[in-house]
Amino acid sequence: MALSTAPTVATSIHVDQVSVSYAAGKRERKTILDEIDLDIAAGEFVVVLGETGCGKSTLLRMILGQERPTKGAIHVAGRTVERVGAGCGYVPQKYSLFPDRTVLGNLMMGPETAGYHILGRLRPGFRAFRRQVRDKAYQQLERMGLQRSDGDKYPHQLSGGMQQRVAIAQALMMKPKILLMDEAFSALDPGTRTSLQRMLREIWLETRPTIVFVTHNTAEALFLATRIIVLAKQTTGGRSGAKIALDMRLPDAGMSLKHHGQAFLDLVDHIELCSQGFESAVERIANLEGTAR
Ligand SMILES: Nc1ncnc2c1ncn2[C@@H]1O[C@H](COP(=O)(O)OP(=O)(O)OP(=O)(O)O)[C@@H](O)[C@H]1O
Ligand SMILES: [Mg+2]
Repeated sequence: MALSTAPTVATSIHVDQVSVSYAAGKRERKTILDEIDLDIAAGEFVVVLGETGCGKSTLLRMILGQERPTKGAIHVAGRTVERVGAGCGYVPQKYSLFPDRTVLGNLMMGPETAGYHILGRLRPGFRAFRRQVRDKAYQQLERMGLQRSDGDKYPHQLSGGMQQRVAIAQALMMKPKILLMDEAFSALDPGTRTSLQRMLREIWLETRPTIVFVTHNTAEALFLATRIIVLAKQTTGGRSGAKIALDMRLPDAGMSLKHHGQAFLDLVDHIELCSQGFESAVERIANLEGTAR
């Protein structure tokens, strides 16, 4: 068994030999992720791509602490993740707002719960604290391009795009150092999607949180990422489960065809190769890089 390597503080997220498998039938187990090693430094904007079912959401949920690895361990800011921590903001793949709370109620819930226990809310300081949280909630709403009056609406009174803006505002309320976003923009129309991509990039440039962002969209990945990770399923050698087929640092966030020409096109090719399975992708990418030199 591999020895656990001690994570450093500068390493924001340390995924150490992580495997995940589920029972499939009485005796069988289905491996989803197979011995994944991944170090993410503080301030990186990592975009995770990969075929459907290869374990992207599972990886994100493990970093959050919602799910535990079958083998290996995950460390966040130097600590082993054992349960859901307050340090990560999370925008899940499906809409996640509490339906019986207004937008403002949804935004204020996290900070209120973290700041005061139920009994503590009887203390005199709670009213002032609540006012501050409400002001912050309005600021976040406006930042996401929503109106103050939207704060009084319930989730079902909002469009999908508005709900997603609220979900992002909610994740940002606690000013997390780590932001985990699972296909956060996938359900949006192209215009809203572009504007939210720009907004997310601005937030990252301003405060440099560590972001792990899952998407199926290569253009979105190349626009946002400082590093792209592609998971691909193994298909040969008697092993199953996904591994990291491509781990590429980009010269700057916002890689575009205009500024990076051939490098951009090569990367798109490499990402596409990953859909052919782990072994084939690794071999063909190595061959392409060999011929490029
Ligand atoms: N609790 C569970 N029990 C059994 N199987 C599970 C469980 N959670 C996830 N899986 C399986 O693990 C695999 C990976 O799921 P995951 O949701 O992480 O994939 P994904 O890469 O996010 O896919 P998509 O792109 O479709 O969102 C799937 O085959 C799924 O059925
Ligand atoms: Mg998913």
